[in-house]
Amino acid sequence: MTTHRHKVIPTDARALIEARVGKITEYENAEGGLNSEIAAHVHTRYGSIFVKGLRRDHRRIWTQRREADIAPYVEGIAPTLLWRLKGAGWDLNAFENVEGRHADYTPGSADLPLVVELLVNLSQVEAPDVELRSMADRMQHHTTTSDWFSGDALLHTDWFPANVLVKSDGTARLVDWAWASTGAAWIDPALWVVWLIKAGHSPEEAEEWARQVPAFAEADGVAVDAFAEATVSVWEEITANDSTPWMNEMLNAARAWVASRSQPPSFPDIYAPGERDNG
Ligand SMILES: Nc1ncnc2c1ncn2[C@@H]1O[C@H](COP(=O)(O)OP(=O)(O)O)[C@@H](O)[C@H]1O
Ligand SMILES: [Mg+2]
Repeated sequence: MTTHRHKVIPTDARALIEARVGKITEYENAEGGLNSEIAAHVHTRYGSIFVKGLRRDHRRIWTQRREADIAPYVEGIAPTLLWRLKGAGWDLNAFENVEGRHADYTPGSADLPLVVELLVNLSQVEAPDVELRSMADRMQHHTTTSDWFSGDALLHTDWFPANVLVKSDGTARLVDWAWASTGAAWIDPALWVVWLIKAGHSPEEAEEWARQVPAFAEADGVAVDAFAEATVSVWEEITANDSTPWMNEMLNAARAWVASRSQPPSFPDIYAPGERDNG
């Protein structure tokens, strides 16, 4: 599933970047994420940028265009796209270099409200008129009711904590829009629930966080039930192909979520007072 990340920016790509920004004085490869051949903080005497690059014959080359297409619509949520260029067999996107660390999703983390803020802002972004997959489509093999997941919101869908950068000014930015999709606005918070459970929250605590996003609080419970079940199927498929421990943890988290949602309501909810002993 992963791509080899170059330890050294290949000379031809480096020349392209330098033609654009001047001499590279220093760079560091990004920590976290492995899909891009180049993902580096690049420094020049004029400032720093973040460069993501793939060779144009890479099988996931479409992700470069997808990220560039989305960027103008997620200002303030994602890093600004500075420029995009193709040459010497490379496809490069240069972004604002975000100085931040990966989000911590564990219980009590001060990052959780920042992620809620990202989710709230993103849930208000309508899917732009660019090529995007629909969540209903992506989930159709995992449920019989995938049309319940449709909608016209822009979704990120990959809440891997390394895709959320927390800055020292107390804001966060969401990177890695390769899997951006369209669908119901409650789906991103729903996907986050599974990550929170994996990070140690109970399913109830995880949902309490997600409910701070109005789109999730207002979602139809039956659709969320179906979505929770579909996420189990997704992680079953992923772990069947190539499983690493974190993927198995995601599968277990999704299962725990489904189990918690299928608890029957307590007596006071389903019986009116006094009816209980009438049988
Ligand atoms: N604009 C940016 N500024 C600073 N760091 C970034 C930026 N974009 C990505 N990163 C870092 O690079 C890592 C890999 O980038 P990402 O976009 O997630 O690519 P992928 O996971 O496809 O390799 C991220 O986890 C993050 O740590
Ligand atoms: Mg990533």
